[in-house]
Amino acid sequence: MKHIFQKGTDEAKPVFLLLHGTGGTETDLLPIAGMIDPEASFLSVRGNVVENGMPRFFRRLQEGVFDIEDLILRTKELKDFIEEAAATYHFDLQNVVAVGYSNGANIAGSLLFHYENVLRGAILLHPMVPRRGVALPSLANVPIFIGAGDNDPICLPEETNELSSLLTDAGAKVAVHWESFGHQLTRTEIEAAKAWYEETFSLGR
Ligand code: MLT
Repeated sequence: MKHIFQKGTDEAKPVFLLLHGTGGTETDLLPIAGMIDPEASFLSVRGNVVENGMPRFFRRLQEGVFDIEDLILRTKELKDFIEEAAATYHFDLQNVVAVGYSNGANIAGSLLFHYENVLRGAILLHPMVPRRGVALPSLANVPIFIGAGDNDPICLPEETNELSSLLTDAGAKVAVHWESFGHQLTRTEIEAAKAWYEETFSLGR
């Protein structure tokens, strides 16, 4: 997959798996990752699906309706890519924390829904429920931050609460941060994600 790997100045820090929103690229989330932890390593990936010229991580049938077969296939493709990247760039596969926005948050959610031990944690910015009616793997103690909008027209608050419950029921430790700026990513949301990250990974100074 097309990507950027940026080795961090502190290799004990997590590797952020950066996953952009629809129409984005692998450069989009680099500044946000830098705000959250400038010493971490970054593996930023471009989605392999193109919809009207816009990169995405999996196909959709229409707005908010996912092509589940493609979602499953692309989730496996991303998991395999992370494993290849760990071998190529010599990072610890147990230390990967996803940071995804919108469509990128949805594929990160799908990694959590389908595979145990792929992500050490996740920062999901405006995610939806990737799939319904499946048993999740154990996410015992996997820390997950959800950034949501109480007026997000794409990721409705009910869906945020549903996602939070599904992840919590699988054992994850979920923190939900609410904003009121629709589907937009906001500075205060990133600051909240950073504070959560520092507390969760005991990196505060
Ligand atoms: C999706 O298709 O993943 C969601 O609708 C979010 C988006 O608009 O990308």
